[in-house]
Amino acid sequence: MSRTDRGSVEKITAAIVGTGGIAEAHVTAIRELAEHIELVAAVDVDEERLRVFCEQYGIAGRYTDLDRMLAQELPRLVHICTPPSSHAALSIRSLRAGAWVFCEKPPCTMLAELDEIEAAEEETGRYCSFVFQWRFGSGAQRLRRLIETQAFGRPLLAICHTTWFRDDGYYAVPWRGRWETEAGGPTMGHGIHATDLVLWLLGDWTEVRGMIGRVDREIETEDVSMAMVEFESGARGSFVTSVVSPREETYLRFDFQQATVEFRHLYGYTDADWRFTPRPGEQEEALGDAWARTPAELPSTHASQLRAIVDSMREGGRPPTGPREVRPTMEFITALYRSAMTGVPVARASLSREDPFYSALHGNLAEWAPRNAERSRGAG
Ligand SMILES: NC(=O)c1ccc[n+]([C@@H]2O[C@H](COP(=O)([O-])OP(=O)(O)OC[C@H]3O[C@@H](n4cnc5c(N)ncnc54)[C@H](O)[C@@H]3O)[C@@H](O)[C@H]2O)c1
Repeated sequence: MSRTDRGSVEKITAAIVGTGGIAEAHVTAIRELAEHIELVAAVDVDEERLRVFCEQYGIAGRYTDLDRMLAQELPRLVHICTPPSSHAALSIRSLRAGAWVFCEKPPCTMLAELDEIEAAEEETGRYCSFVFQWRFGSGAQRLRRLIETQAFGRPLLAICHTTWFRDDGYYAVPWRGRWETEAGGPTMGHGIHATDLVLWLLGDWTEVRGMIGRVDREIETEDVSMAMVEFESGARGSFVTSVVSPREETYLRFDFQQATVEFRHLYGYTDADWRFTPRPGEQEEALGDAWARTPAELPSTHASQLRAIVDSMREGGRPPTGPREVRPTMEFITALYRSAMTGVPVARASLSREDPFYSALHGNLAEWAPRNAERSRGAG
């Protein structure tokens, strides 16, 4: 921990790379933690977008090249807010320049890249934390603690629905809807928030049976996916991700032996979105009390996660949601695609470095990959 002459703890200097849609959430998070962290620079390959963003938020350091920014500003934390295909390379360059990284979801485009990021962490002694802000709201934190203490008995069933709507205008942005640049379809880009939350809460999964379809949108990737999942605990799960659902919602349901816990929301939850129902005849008050108790309300925002990263930086420890911690989620999505495209259930233990899906989420299978190649050429 570095201190100034007057003994106060120095602020962490931060830079944002990619000044598009999600960058604002990072500025908001940094401003909420202004006591600990200071935004000193921004980078974007689009000069005009960079200018507008820096003027709007009063950012002094403006760069169109990441390496120049890293060399001149020496930021201690780099926020990666660029399209998915660039996450691994930009994260690794930032780690090698001595910074810690707070990288947007999805972490990267394939398991092979996740391993490269982890190797860069080991090489540099710096850490990467991927944005999974839903793990950091008080509802999820509370449920995780109650699962650990088995307050509601064993988990038996999970339902995880990301039924969202994205129209043709959304997919007109060139990097979206393409395997190469979006790193998969909505299973990876949209459903990943809820999927990651369920997997983080329920622990190791063992087998996935997947189905994907391109039912309406004119994109390379799927627009709906489904999965049936077995967990090591014996619990079963059902996952649906869609970008073709006019009434949008995110719905999660956990049935434990003693209670059902659910939430409905869209892009972020508060305590008010959770619902708790004890098993019929169960002592409602005792279980309800356990559910209602601390921690105090924390929303599922970037700021809640950034607070945890700042704590790790101050203490010099590994931050939450690094490559090792998000690996089960990346493996799950890889297995879902492999199962859907091959028509065979996928055991987690069978995912190896030799697997074609380890280094391409479409596994280079004819039905999905050639169309990809044609469209990529067309997009020039
Ligand atoms: N956590 C969330 O809730 C959430 C929500 C939306 C998007 N996202 C994620 O955030 C990321 C960005 O999404 P977006 O909607 O903001 O995209 P966007 O297209 O609006 O913005 C991306 C920006 O990155 C810039 N860029 C591209 N390559 C670059 C490079 N090599 N160096 C510097 N700048 C570069 C582009 O010029 C653009 O300004 C994606 O991974 C997306 O999945 C996360």
